[in-house]
Amino acid sequence: MSAMTINGRIMPLPDDPDALLIDVIRDDLNLTGTKLVCGAGVCGACTVLVDGVPVVSCLMPARHAADKSVTTVEGIGAAGKLHPVQKAFMAHDALQCGFCTPGFIVEATAFHDRWRANAGTATPSREEIGAALSGHLCRCGAYDGIFRAVTEACAGRFDGDDIVSPRIEAREKVTGAAKYTVDIRHDGQLEGVILRSRAAHARIVELDLAPALAMPGVSAAISLLGDDRIVRYVGEPIAAVAARDRKTATQAIAAIKVTSERLPSVIGLDAARKPDAPAVFEKSNRKKAGNVSEGAGSPAPWKANVRGPSAAFSHKAKKLRGWLEAARAGRDPLLVEGIFRTGTQSHACLEPHAAVARFDGDRLTVHASTQAVFHLMELIAKRYKLAHDKVRVIADHVGGGFGSKASLGVETTAAIELARAAKAPVGIAFDRHEELSVTGYRPATEIKIALLPSGQGDLKGLSLTAYADTGAAVNSTIAALARLIYPAQAKALADFDVISNLPPGAPFRGPGGPPMAFALEQAIDEAALRMNVDPISLRKRWDPNPNRQRLYDWASTLDVWRDRKTPASQTGRYRRGVGVATGYWLYLWQPGSKVELAVKGGRIVARSAIQDIGTGSRTVIANTVAHEFGLEPHEVEVHIGDSNLIEGPGSGGSRTTASVIPPALLAIRKLKAAIEQHSKRKPVPGSNAPWRELIAASPDISVSAVRPEDNKQMAPGIRSPLKDAGFMGTIFGWMMRRFSNLAVGAGVPSSVQVIEVEVDTWLGHVRVLNVHTGIAVGKIAAAALARSQAAGSVIQGVGYALYEARETDSSTGDILTAGMEDYRIPGIADTPDIDVHFDEAGFDHVLGGSVGIGEVATVPTSPAIANAIHNATGIRPTEIPIRPDRLIAALKGRTAA
Ligand code: FES
Ligand code: FES
Repeated sequence: MSAMTINGRIMPLPDDPDALLIDVIRDDLNLTGTKLVCGAGVCGACTVLVDGVPVVSCLMPARHAADKSVTTVEGIGAAGKLHPVQKAFMAHDALQCGFCTPGFIVEATAFHDRWRANAGTATPSREEIGAALSGHLCRCGAYDGIFRAVTEACAGRFDGDDIVSPRIEAREKVTGAAKYTVDIRHDGQLEGVILRSRAAHARIVELDLAPALAMPGVSAAISLLGDDRIVRYVGEPIAAVAARDRKTATQAIAAIKVTSERLPSVIGLDAARKPDAPAVFEKSNRKKAGNVSEGAGSPAPWKANVRGPSAAFSHKAKKLRGWLEAARAGRDPLLVEGIFRTGTQSHACLEPHAAVARFDGDRLTVHASTQAVFHLMELIAKRYKLAHDKVRVIADHVGGGFGSKASLGVETTAAIELARAAKAPVGIAFDRHEELSVTGYRPATEIKIALLPSGQGDLKGLSLTAYADTGAAVNSTIAALARLIYPAQAKALADFDVISNLPPGAPFRGPGGPPMAFALEQAIDEAALRMNVDPISLRKRWDPNPNRQRLYDWASTLDVWRDRKTPASQTGRYRRGVGVATGYWLYLWQPGSKVELAVKGGRIVARSAIQDIGTGSRTVIANTVAHEFGLEPHEVEVHIGDSNLIEGPGSGGSRTTASVIPPALLAIRKLKAAIEQHSKRKPVPGSNAPWRELIAASPDISVSAVRPEDNKQMAPGIRSPLKDAGFMGTIFGWMMRRFSNLAVGAGVPSSVQVIEVEVDTWLGHVRVLNVHTGIAVGKIAAAALARSQAAGSVIQGVGYALYEARETDSSTGDILTAGMEDYRIPGIADTPDIDVHFDEAGFDHVLGGSVGIGEVATVPTSPAIANAIHNATGIRPTEIPIRPDRLIAALKGRTAA
């Protein structure tokens, strides 16, 4: 038997010639800091040093490490002292969910050490850092912080003592100590694998699990078929198996006998709308359709594969149709009309959907990669008819979600059912193919828009009709969002779901917002051109929202905006353009959210059953508590990620901050009163840390508080956007609260982005040079983290605009981009300079003054890029991703791209 040295210890290597280095590291040695993401050498998450050289351990046979020295992230930094790169990542908040972080740390450490040996403390260029780290992907888009961290570490600025990070769990993430669901290993844990449909539409006539169950090492096999035994997309679950390891489980699912009867199928937006298209759902089983929105959808007619129109937010639609006809007939030059198409965007979370289920008697514990620990506990308890106190959901760290991990998924139900059948803990983690094909996506859309200014320069009418390619799901809300901005005399807003034999779409960061903005914000830009008005001035005229009025003022003073060139005035190969766009989202919060605060052993402890998917929930709570008690955030112990804690909100729809800060502040008031009453000593007169002294002298006490309603008296003139949307808005708000436990508050989180691009008119490439993102979401509770999230949102928006395209085979329904080598997300070299401007006014009526940032920051990026391209070239991009071939064709034909 051969051996390697790993992190300074000699370890035997397995005889199995197929064993990969990553399997030995993670499974045999339990060094779980090294992460498996793509398994194809594309993402860099599995990077380790072999004799000091970075290699991807997912491709390296373990035996090739014989007699070599391997260093994982756990081995970086000597004798418990952090490496300068680790300290720099912590200081610059160069991470969010942290799942990619170990790979970046290993690679950046190697780069740093080489650089210092050769160049001392000279500063590497952005290009040099980009080239060194180009083999690594971060879906949260933490690249901006990574650039700053590596630059400063190489310049020697982190050679000294350890630092305090603005993110309280950062140390765990940069050292590989943070445990995610995929890292959980119970004694005797089995591995679950799911058998999935290869047909886009079929009835399963016979399912014989016996051959799988008969195989050695297999402990359980279960059916996952619904009562109608119909599968409606490639990849729909049929059965699942639990076995001693993945290899055995994979062999077992291949042994399951499935007999099926193929049914006619239809794939995609155009085919599914045809009158003779086969129906995906019969009337009797439409409840099986998934949900692409965050809340309950509006009722709508459903005929064949088209559900809609959902047009409750229209206003004087008939009148508008008459005006539009007259404008067309009269060739009104101000009438802006067009059809815009947006592509399908995959969430592509780096940590896959995963769950580990374990029964201890009648108690069920589920580790899950989830955006909602408490709600998931409720859903599991309901589905399996268990009492709440018999179910516990844990998620210490979550490697990204972006909307795709907010509900009870098959990874969890199958793990639970297999664990029950096998009488042993079972873990299921989707492989990358599953992750990129069946876990949801932002649906592609086709949006028809007509925008009619009046002769006096007002917005007279706006019409949007949106068709969404939702797969086996419904409830897209795209056109309806246009009711919440740019008031007009009349609006006709109609949403249609087009259902086909594709996996169901799912909510994705600002569901419906980015495609709607791509169409609307370009139409506004076009109107400004035709009216010969500055595009920011026109928005300021048409959009009375006070938060955005301030952002328009900020944007109009930017040098890059003032210095922009006249549209299409440039010649030559490379042309630069500047564009602007507006974004907004609803201010959401979750009723019933609670925070518990305690003094325990002379320390403050905060608890809530929320989770941190990279957005910084721990830090937001720690900062809030620390600020009120005059402490440092790291002096506050924060416990989250466990449904056994007091009820907390989910992480979706940008609701978390506005749900936890108000109860935290109320709990702080209560705890202060209790401490003052019970503390055994008073602080010394003139103490500069009176609360620290009182807390140290306090007995153990615990208090809690629930999220209060907002103070309406403190919001004169600030209205709920739903109330402004009339009767249907009020009904929609009531439904959100009743069926989705989400309250829509007064005031509108807003953003305005100004983006500069460079277009290579020979090759069609677009480079985003710099982004100025103005954000109005009230007071910022954790400045560095909010900045990271804002920058990451921009980078996801850049991906949506320029690169990301989930492709399907239109005859079979197979997903053709189910590997990270095929589904292109932005890398570090795609990162522009990002300037984040926070406007902190506008939410004083919310206790604490803060609302969420995640959704609003990504909405305007794709239209701002498109408007910048138009400014540079005169070409109006009407389809995203704005691929080079589309742009070249448009430049040649002088038509829309
Ligand atoms: S997991 Fe190895 S490169 Fe992605
Ligand atoms: S921090 Fe990089 S993937 Fe989340």
